[in-house]
Amino acid sequence: MRTSRSSLRHRLTTLLTGAAALTALLVAAPAHAADPPLRDLADAKGKVIGTAVTGSKLTGTYGQIAGAEFNSLTPGNAMKWGSVEPTRGTFNWTEADQIVDFAEAHGQQVRGHTLVWHSQNPSWLTNGTWTSAQLSQLMNDHIALEVGRYKGRLAAWDVVNEPFNEDGTYRQTLWYNGLGADYIAQALTAARAADPSAKLYINDYNVEGVNAKSTALYNLVKSLKERGVPIDGVGLQAHLILGQVPSSLQQNIQRFADLGVDVAITELDIRMQLPATEAKLAQQRTDYEAVVKACVAVSRCTGATVWGFTDSDSWIPDTFPGQGAATPYDENYAPKPAYSGIATALGGTTTPPPTGACTATYSVTSQWNTGFTGQVRIACSGASLSSWRVNWTYGAGQQITQAWSATCAQTGAAVSCTNASWNGTVPNGGSVTFGFNANWSGSNPLPTVTLG
Ligand code: XIL
Repeated sequence: MRTSRSSLRHRLTTLLTGAAALTALLVAAPAHAADPPLRDLADAKGKVIGTAVTGSKLTGTYGQIAGAEFNSLTPGNAMKWGSVEPTRGTFNWTEADQIVDFAEAHGQQVRGHTLVWHSQNPSWLTNGTWTSAQLSQLMNDHIALEVGRYKGRLAAWDVVNEPFNEDGTYRQTLWYNGLGADYIAQALTAARAADPSAKLYINDYNVEGVNAKSTALYNLVKSLKERGVPIDGVGLQAHLILGQVPSSLQQNIQRFADLGVDVAITELDIRMQLPATEAKLAQQRTDYEAVVKACVAVSRCTGATVWGFTDSDSWIPDTFPGQGAATPYDENYAPKPAYSGIATALGGTTTPPPTGACTATYSVTSQWNTGFTGQVRIACSGASLSSWRVNWTYGAGQQITQAWSATCAQTGAAVSCTNASWNGTVPNGGSVTFGFNANWSGSNPLPTVTLG
């Protein structure tokens, strides 16, 4: 950004005064910028740390975090039957392809989700009248086509999703009612034929602890193994409630492992009644850590995938009214205590969050061919500021062109922004945000920001 000499001199004076005033204040950078990314910690342990993603969001800060922090992606909706074949014989692979391409570009695994389910099916399928021969053909063709499309590129498939009721009986679905319980073996066999290298899973919820439902799943897997039906793993979705991690989680994972199958935590989120408070977020950290630790403790547990990494991309508020804040990042992409819980469980030595601090969080809010809009949020908790300065260094030639609600100067790669006359005060529990436009080319990595 161009500035006149006099305004530079003026700012320098302000900076020096500001710096002196700020030295005594606590300073912290966002955890995702300061600590090793979760995927590095997971790689070191031979584990998966994954996230469900929405393809259209994989740019800007969302894309940066998805690519930098996770070593596995699961399409949240893009591979479901209703998404890929909304009209019979008319296919839409755009979002699914985009996610697989993104994952490959970022050295990530992909978990396919999901082939045979009672939900999110196209209406032509659910409203049709089918003989069992037709239904079987439809299911097998669907599996052959979708699994075949990504042959050799996906690490695993959730072949059958949510086959059980809470009491351990089979759920009455289109598939069960038309084909009997054998639809599961048929589906697994078709998936193996279409991609012999993908690990094949049955995935369900409320099967994290030892209970009637998980025991039904256990008995099914045992009998499939005995019959020689291809089954490689079970997915424990783990849509959990705050403070309710089942105490038998590790024991349950271990009993499946002892059957000779892998176990994956496939859809982890931990929801709470809103609003989130500091105490609830601390409990959530404990819960996330406990879940990931239980998986790390069992060698056949491949890892954990969170069902959306940010509270701005979570299904919880829509599905459980009044509940939310279920993921490890808040809506503004700031890592929550839950993030540190995951890092700790993966062997990270995260610095404990300071008791009182002001933090600056940098995010890209939109991005196009040559430019982007970014914002920095300065938030205080247990501390306050009367003026502020945020610094960062661009790693890929980005150039600020314009800033608002702050005065920003860029010298080479170094950017320094100070408060406007009217927003220097950040009270305890409060925050201020400023924005800017900048140019980029090639890549637009997130810089580490420092406040002070
Ligand atoms: C959810 C998606 O996250 C939502 O966007 C969608 O509206 C409904 O489905 N169990 C599963 C997932 O296996 O596919 C579900 O995903 C959440 C519950």
